[in-house]
Amino acid sequence: MTLQDQIDKSRLPRHLAVIMDGNGRWAKKKGLFRSLGHEKGSQAVREIVETCAELSIPYLTLYAFSTENWNRPKFEVDTLMKLLVSSLKKEIKTLEENNIKLNAIGNLDALPNKAHRELLDVIERTKTNSKMTLTLALSYGAREEIIKTIKEISLKVKNNLISPSNIDESVINNHLYTRDLPDVDLLIRTSGEHRISNFLLWQIAYAELYFTDTLWPDYRKDHLFEAILNYQNRERRFGKTSEQLNP
Ligand code: IPE
Ligand code: IPE
Ligand code: MG
Repeated sequence: MTLQDQIDKSRLPRHLAVIMDGNGRWAKKKGLFRSLGHEKGSQAVREIVETCAELSIPYLTLYAFSTENWNRPKFEVDTLMKLLVSSLKKEIKTLEENNIKLNAIGNLDALPNKAHRELLDVIERTKTNSKMTLTLALSYGAREEIIKTIKEISLKVKNNLISPSNIDESVINNHLYTRDLPDVDLLIRTSGEHRISNFLLWQIAYAELYFTDTLWPDYRKDHLFEAILNYQNRERRFGKTSEQLNP
């Protein structure tokens, strides 16, 4: 039986998030420029996006560029932004063919004009697609998101639109970039690093974490199936006891 056949279709993660890491090390190992690692990484993105759509995972969120990544050398940042534009242009077809809606989270105003415009254009063109929502985290930082949320809620309190005693989880959820997305069920990070790097801090409160040594440009369908099978072998207790879940 193939890995794919072993997957229980009734217990798929509803929201899968991926920290796509290791492009630079992949290139270095091969004696190539880092930019080639990013280019190879964008090909892995296509395979994983198509596979998730095929599996009918409704929400896929990919960490593509963090607020901290702005501190990389200018040349690398420029290369990544150009790659974003060319990938969006190229992949609109993949999105259309697979009925995928594009979404983006992060401080999008910080993106170069061209990248920002292309992104909004593809979001607009795919807005009625309904099989899967693909969210790109771009210029995204969870702390920045939380600060923005606190500012917006504080302003509403100041203007008597909301009372502090009514602030609960749903109020916070509704002010995050991810307001239209469910909580993350499974978070995968590639490249052997065991950290979150300022990604979706609020939204991964009860996510299952899965780390793999595979570098992102080498990431293929079967790696994803392995991660999902591993996820399906876990018991998500949400604070309860195992006996409560299996009476
Ligand atoms: C992930 O790969 C892509 C981005 C962060 C944009 P890296 O570029 O971080 O690759 P490593 O971690 O240096 O190998
Ligand atoms: C996290 O990877 C950001 C993305 C994958 C876009 P980094 O490579 O930037 O993270 P650190 O610096 O190793 O924590
Ligand atoms: Mg990295």
